[in-house]
Amino acid sequence: MTAPEIPEATPLGERGRTGLGVVQAVAALRQEIGHLRREGHRIGLVPTMGALHAGHIALVRHALEAADRVCVSVFVNPTQFGPNEDFAVYPRDEAGDAAKLAGAGAHLLFAPSADEMYPEGEVCRVTVPGLGDILEGAFRPGFFTGVATVVAKLLIQASPDIAVFGEKDYQQLQVIRRMVRDLHIPVRIEAAPTIRESDGLALSSRNAYLTADERAIAPELYATLMEVAHRARHDRATANVERWASDRLIEAGFTSVDYVTVRDAETLEPWPGGTRPGRVLGAAWLGRTRLIDNVPVP
Ligand code: PAF
Repeated sequence: MTAPEIPEATPLGERGRTGLGVVQAVAALRQEIGHLRREGHRIGLVPTMGALHAGHIALVRHALEAADRVCVSVFVNPTQFGPNEDFAVYPRDEAGDAAKLAGAGAHLLFAPSADEMYPEGEVCRVTVPGLGDILEGAFRPGFFTGVATVVAKLLIQASPDIAVFGEKDYQQLQVIRRMVRDLHIPVRIEAAPTIRESDGLALSSRNAYLTADERAIAPELYATLMEVAHRARHDRATANVERWASDRLIEAGFTSVDYVTVRDAETLEPWPGGTRPGRVLGAAWLGRTRLIDNVPVP
């Protein structure tokens, strides 16, 4: 596996602690974070898989509010892709990512190779049974084990005070919160709201796969989830609402619907209603592209 094509590591010490430092090795990351800690800085981490868009930059801004030095990891994590998924073609733009991070005011880019993150012979995995097996976990077996494993590694490697994740991947956020709690990892997990196009489509690196016709249909996912949230609040028969939503998406032009469901916002078990916070989550296919989104029950 080859290392990403990005500029050579530029130690922060040689740059007078300004601009974006770039490191590719865990040892170099630890060294840089160590310098920053000794200078008394609070460290924020934003884990990403690159192909950065305005949604990622919003995560960086969020981290800059909560911490005074921000490290962004860019790593397309092979263990969270299934055998028939898009690992090989997942969008990659290492130089563009570095430029965007520098523009956003991030301090450190950690861009390890796959061999650095998964050295030969490594075998350990982190699983989050239950929460990691339903919804996305049921449709993408092994996905959350890949996510939990790489996020655990990143949190141990960077030892940040806070780490920021987007609400766009709502189940991922809950899985990571559970993992951090159960493993006593000393970090505060912060959630940043989903950034949307003006027509409501949630920003995602995978939107790049949509054809023009599919792009025109895509905002219907958000519109449908919003309507489900409204109906769920006023009508407890969520099964009917969920069926209605799937039909509406197919009529709008979606190829198939994996799920639209109203869940307890924390456990992701079926929503009991009442005062428990609820979340509507959906996943549907437009041609060969799978879109996910979620909204709160008002
Ligand atoms: O949300 C993502 O981009 C990825 O799942 C993450 C959290 C960076 C782990 O690879």
